[in-house]
Amino acid sequence: MNILKSISSLSKTSTMVISLLLLILILILDYATGKDISVSILYLIPILLISWNIGFLPAILFSLVAAVLKIYTDIWSGLNYTNFLLYVWECSVDFGIFSAFTFSFVKIKSTLKSLEEKNEQLHKVNEVKNEFLGMASHDLKNPLNNIYNFAAMIEENDSLPPKQVTQIAHRIVNISLQMFQLIDSLITSAAMELEELNCKNERVDILLAASSIIQQFSVAAEKKSLKIHLEKNSEKVIADADYDLTLQVLDNLISNAIKFSPPNKNIWIKLLKPAKPQNKVRIEIKDEGPGFSEDDKLKVFNRFSRLSARPTGGESSTGLGLFTVKKLVEAMNGNVFYQSEPGEGALFIVELPMAKL
Ligand SMILES: Nc1ncnc2c1ncn2[C@@H]1O[C@H](COP(=O)(O)OP(=O)(O)O)[C@@H](O)[C@H]1O
Ligand SMILES: [Mg+2]
Repeated sequence: MNILKSISSLSKTSTMVISLLLLILILILDYATGKDISVSILYLIPILLISWNIGFLPAILFSLVAAVLKIYTDIWSGLNYTNFLLYVWECSVDFGIFSAFTFSFVKIKSTLKSLEEKNEQLHKVNEVKNEFLGMASHDLKNPLNNIYNFAAMIEENDSLPPKQVTQIAHRIVNISLQMFQLIDSLITSAAMELEELNCKNERVDILLAASSIIQQFSVAAEKKSLKIHLEKNSEKVIADADYDLTLQVLDNLISNAIKFSPPNKNIWIKLLKPAKPQNKVRIEIKDEGPGFSEDDKLKVFNRFSRLSARPTGGESSTGLGLFTVKKLVEAMNGNVFYQSEPGEGALFIVELPMAKL
């Protein structure tokens, strides 16, 4: 395996030079030993090098050259057939054997490569599984425990007034919903890590997408007396992206702005059509919350990173939202970045390719 690794580390040019030098050496050895067939096996060494490092076609060509030179060398070292066709036959047999080996070497290499890729993928699956288990034991056990306690309260106490039973049931429903959300984001993020995202290319009306998300969060914002301002520099800010993924990105960023802002603050959402068509459509989401500390800044887009800001209204927090946002935006050939000073709020900027007119 180590020999194969060293072979793989050679560049194409050095492989070619080494193989040609080896071929000359083997031809000289073949000439010197006369009709000793044990030398024949040595021809496979340069063929292996080229099959491994350069590819099937160059290796086949090399095999042909080696087979022809081999028969010439045999003739010089005394091989004497009465019929010319016998030379052709011997050359063809050599070429056939060399080609069969070339094919096997290339096949072995591609099998090894796909095994390595599978191994890497398994490692990744294992990592995701471990993170999943860590998260599940930590974040699913607590709410499940609460559900258990509430249910046990009803079971053990049949004299509970109906109003209190309804209150407890309401809490159970809320906790279950949070658990559903958590499991859902865990599954999405695990799937995102393991599979290619299915990303469509369509004309996405950013104003429509942003308005629908703002509408969705209007009650949550009202509860905290947060004012959402929507600004735009054009009625038509159209990106070349995937509508559903864009909604998911906006959902995460706007819900964060609401989740981490203290009451009575402002949130600005700006949609900017670029001045030059080759530039990107820009979506800015700015809040007046706690922003990111210097420590936070190292982990903003990491998976499961719950940072110093905590939800101000008892919302659930998984630390998967921004990780998801980055993956989704990159899948749409866009960029996402942020600007923030501790205590000064956070500004998230998403850039997406602009749709052709
Ligand atoms: N707008 C924001 N202002 C301050 N901190 C934020 C903001 N958005 C996210 N964060 C911090 O980053 C962490 C990760 O965010 P996210 O991945 O969306 O997870 P979640 O919303 O589930 O906590 C949050 O837990 C929070 O500490
Ligand atoms: Mg979030």
